[in-house]
This record gives sequence, structure tokens and C-alpha cells, in this order.
Amino acid sequence: MVNNLMSKFPRIEDLEKVASKKIPPFIHAYLDAGTGSGITMARNRNALDEITFTPELMHGHFSPNLECKILGQSYALPFGVAPIGLSSMIWPLSEHYLAEMAVRVKIPYALSTVAGASIEDIGEKSKGYGWFQLYAPRNRDITLSLLDRAENANMRVLVVTGDVPAPSRREEMRKAGAPIGSTNASRITPKMLFQILQHPKWALAALGLKGRLQFKNMERYAPKNTAESVSNFIAGQLHGSLSWNYLEEIRGHWNGCLLLKGVLRPSDALRAIDTGVDGIIVSNHGGRQFDANPASISVLRAIRQAVGPDFPIVFDSGIRSGLDILRALALGADFVLVGRPFLYGIAAIGKEGGGHVVDILRDEISNALVQMGAKNIAELRQRLNN
Ligand SMILES: Cc1cc2nc3c(=O)[nH]c(=O)nc-3n(C[C@H](O)[C@H](O)[C@H](O)COP(=O)(O)O)c2cc1C
Repeated sequence: MVNNLMSKFPRIEDLEKVASKKIPPFIHAYLDAGTGSGITMARNRNALDEITFTPELMHGHFSPNLECKILGQSYALPFGVAPIGLSSMIWPLSEHYLAEMAVRVKIPYALSTVAGASIEDIGEKSKGYGWFQLYAPRNRDITLSLLDRAENANMRVLVVTGDVPAPSRREEMRKAGAPIGSTNASRITPKMLFQILQHPKWALAALGLKGRLQFKNMERYAPKNTAESVSNFIAGQLHGSLSWNYLEEIRGHWNGCLLLKGVLRPSDALRAIDTGVDGIIVSNHGGRQFDANPASISVLRAIRQAVGPDFPIVFDSGIRSGLDILRALALGADFVLVGRPFLYGIAAIGKEGGGHVVDILRDEISNALVQMGAKNIAELRQRLNN
């Protein structure tokens, strides 16, 4: 089975192609698209491709040790699963599948505030490998409740996302028929229904969604018996509320490790350190928020220089291979998060898809290190050209 999968899907792009056929177009647009004309997404890809390494000859064959320690915890590999909101809309039960897979292979799984599965369910499944991503609600009582729930569920790391001051325009989703900007954004439109019926496997798996989006972490806070839909309530709570003072408040309430996600400027990285965070995630949200952003990889080196050699930096945006992970590690990241590929895997293969993504990335990392004769990160950095 494993060899079979590797012959059929040896790269992430092979999963991506199949995934695009298995899910309805409005869902695919949610998963796949960037924002605007997709320039930032393309910029992420192009900038990663520009980073080259020159191998050093005749180090022989060796098996690289890929274990990695960050924020006081050891992981089997230098990457984890990025938070993806509404993963269970992309493929039902994705959050459960990915959390179980992460424990099995000993990597972190980050659950989104706007997940379709609850902090409690995923915390229990994660057995210490769970991270919780927070979009800070406007209402402080909701924030405190979410932080308590994350702590009680043994979520080890809190990821506070700072780069969503407002929703992005989601042009591709609009074109695909999703009711963006409607007063009831969680309803199923006739165009969506038509697409759903053309994807029977997805529809069958999705029966659990009961014809509407589920926000298991947030819907309990929505006022009952008002005309306002749950999705509007949530959008009103989560967009644009975070400030540096608010981040400091969150820091004061959260005893575990805290990462600020969405950093692209050295000055913001330094301010985050002053605010007491334990690390930052250099990210442009995978090109989903602002179409004039620099490629995240192109700002990584300057941010590393600004924060010094020892401050934890996690990197994401556009990682599609083990080689990309090595590119980020070579330019100063300590750890990497991978977003869309895990959902491509599940949409293409089902429950085992996340594990296959890990198999691909692990194999690619090991192979690339041997090809360039680099046994560790220090040697990897010596092979870097740019
Ligand atoms: C469908 C989708 C939903 C996302 N939802 C969230 C979210 O809820 N919270 C968050 O901090 N980031 C979210 N992100 C951004 C990812 O965490 C990550 O930054 C990005 O996907 C990395 O780029 P990649 O997909 O190219 O690996 C989302 C990304 C995608 C593709």
C-alpha cells in the first residue's frame, strides 16, 4: 500500500491535481486560491525555487537524523501541520485524521479557532502534540474561555494570528459560487448544491455537516434567538481585534508557549519579543491575505538577523516539498509549518492522506541532504548559494 501510494503520488503536486477533482469547485477555491490575482502565492513559489544549494562531493551514504527540538519539545521531523480553518468542510473529519496522524509520526498539529472540530476532541486525540491557533475574539470573556479550554485540553503551544485585520476578498470563491459577503454566509446556494451533487464521494463524506458550516469552538458563544447568523457573529468577533496591548493581555493569561503568526517585518519581530512571545511564525498566510506581500522566504534572513541566532522562528507559506523545508531551515527557520498540502493529501486519498504527505516530505528531506552531503543544519547552511 505504502509503495503503491508513493508510485502513484510521489510529490505533493501529484496529490494536488487529484484533490482538485475530488472536491466541489467552491471548496477547492477556498483551499487553493490566494487573494487578488494570486501574485503573492506565485511569488512564494518563485522565491523558493530561486534558492539553490551546491553539493559537496563524496560524503558517502548516510541516514540523516531529522529530529528537531523547538519550544522545549522534541519532534520526529522539522515540520508540522499549519492551522487550516474549516478543514472539515474541505474534507469531513480532516481535523481528526490530521491530529491522529500527527501523534503517530510525532509532529505538531495546529487546530484553528475556526475549525470544524472542538478543542476538547482534538486536544484529547493530540496527546501533547496539539497546538491551538487563536484569532483573538473582540470579547475578552470569549478569549479567556478559549484559552482555558486550550490549556485544559493540553494544547502545548498557542499560536496567535496577527495578519488578518479583515477578511481577504476571496475572489476565486465568489466566482465559484460561495456566498461571500451575504448576510447568511453559511447557507448552501443552488450553485454550491449543483457542485456538491457532481462530487458524490465528497457529498457522502460531508453528510455530517448537516448542510451548514460548523464552528465547534466558537458557535457556543453566539447569542441565541437573534437574526444574526453564527458565521456573522464569528466574523464580527474575530476580524481586526488584535493589537499589541491585546497580545500582551493574552500573554498574561497563557502560561504555555506562545507564537505570533504572520510576521514579515524585522521591526514587528522585535516588538513581538518585547511583548513576551516565545517565538514567531514568519508567514504571509500562504498568499491568502494581501497580494502585494513579499514572499515570506525573502524576508526570513533579515528577520533572523534582527532577532539573533537563538530566538525561535517557525516558517510557513508555499512549502511544497522537503527541499522547500530545507530552504527555510537554511535561511534561518528552526521549524516549518505546511498548510494546503495536508488537505490535498486527505482530499486525494482520504484518511491516510496526511500520513502520505509526511512520507513524501520525509523522504525528500533525507534524499536532498544526502545529495548535497549535509549531515546537519550547519552543513546544510554551508551548501547554500544565495
Ligand atoms: C484553507 C486555509 C485556511 C486557513 N485557515 C487559517 C486559520 O484558520 N488560521 C491561521 O492562522 N491560518 C490559516 N491559514 C493559513 C495557514 O495556517 C498557513 O499560514 C498557510 O496555509 C501556509 O501556506 P501553504 O498553504 O502554502 O503551506 C489557512 C490557510 C488555508 C489554505
